Amino acid sequence: MASPLSGPERPTDTPTIIDRFGRPLRDLRISVTDRCNFRCRYCMPREVFGAEFAFLPRSEILTFEEIARLARIFASLGVQKFRLTGGEPTVRNGLPELVTILSEIPGTEIAMTTNGSLLTEQAEPLARAGLDRVTVSLDSTDDAVFRAMNDVGFPVERVVAGIDAAAAAGLPVKIDAVVKRGVNDHTVVDLARFIKERGHILRYIEYMDVGTKNGWRLDDVVPGTSIISMIDAEMPLEPMEPNYFGEVAKRYRYKDGSGEVGIITSVTMPFCGDCTRARLSAEGSLYTCLFAFQGTDLRGMLRSGASDEAIADAIKVVWRVREDRYSEIRSEATTDRLKIEMSYIGG
Ligand code: GTP
Ligand code: 5AD
Ligand code: SF4
Ligand code: SF4
Repeated sequence: MASPLSGPERPTDTPTIIDRFGRPLRDLRISVTDRCNFRCRYCMPREVFGAEFAFLPRSEILTFEEIARLARIFASLGVQKFRLTGGEPTVRNGLPELVTILSEIPGTEIAMTTNGSLLTEQAEPLARAGLDRVTVSLDSTDDAVFRAMNDVGFPVERVVAGIDAAAAAGLPVKIDAVVKRGVNDHTVVDLARFIKERGHILRYIEYMDVGTKNGWRLDDVVPGTSIISMIDAEMPLEPMEPNYFGEVAKRYRYKDGSGEVGIITSVTMPFCGDCTRARLSAEGSLYTCLFAFQGTDLRGMLRSGASDEAIADAIKVVWRVREDRYSEIRSEATTDRLKIEMSYIGG
């Protein structure tokens, strides 16, 4: 198991706040809605997130101005990357307006994680507003498998059209695929070939025990190294160095020079030692781990007239005492503990 202090050399540029394990705050993942138009079984199973489910009412969700104010404060504390997530971020009305405001914050880039379903309409306005790049979730190119996984019968060709629209709008595209044993592991190599031909970077994510509603079992996890072996057998691969400090994906390049794939091995090879990510829920709570249960309410501060300095101080306190390393200490005992849902906190 990696030590929480392991990892490549840490960045030295300022400003920097450091947690108990020496990890700087560098990324803010911003959930703009807890809603989604898919019901992926590993994330929002419809038995739980059906008609009766109590999504957040609009008044509880941060406005774009509130998000932007927090984003500026986070940037002043050393955050260099904002990632818009959900639920599904593109179901939030007027998302390009938020991107426009965030793009004015110096020294930061804006990425988005999306299911791609609305990109044919939204890629161009988002790119024009200043989105820097996009990550599209696509678990399989087999239409029947894909429809079963999103569980709303959404056809794969419409996501592919969204990916093409993003590329046509000039956005660098990455593809993320969650692999679940017996569900889509037989389509892994086909997906790799398809994405390789389109020239995008593909990352396979080990199925994780996020939240408490997806019925996760260790047996359903296909180790990232097995995925690499499957691809390597047909399209030879070799390992690559990380792009930047704290990158979650382990990278491999095709030996024929035609691109790269990665694995995100939160279960079999955790990467908590380099975790620089904070997460802001749609209702304005700050979480310091994907597997956290309790957040810190920043919306209350925003709406009760707190100054930027007071909010910055509150964030500093939270980060400085941070000790999260859930994936490194995961065991039978921890998988049952209370955790917030991925659709609430963003991926
Ligand atoms: P870039 O390298 O900037 O493109 O982004 P990224 O590697 O942060 O990728 P992305 O945000 O697309 O994350 C991919 C997936 O990795 C997420 O959807 C999660 O499933 C998983 N992931 C990201 N961050 C964490 C993390 O802090 N902990 C765990 N356990 N999983 C994570
Ligand atoms: N395990 C791994 N990845 C997950 N995602 C959602 N739920 C899980 C899970 N249980 C991924 C989605 C998407 C991102 C938002 O998080 O597939 O790529
Ligand atoms: Fe929606 Fe993404 Fe969760 Fe699937 S993984 S239900 S697309 S938020
Ligand atoms: Fe970071 Fe928590 Fe994921 Fe570890 S489990 S990498 S601490 S978000």
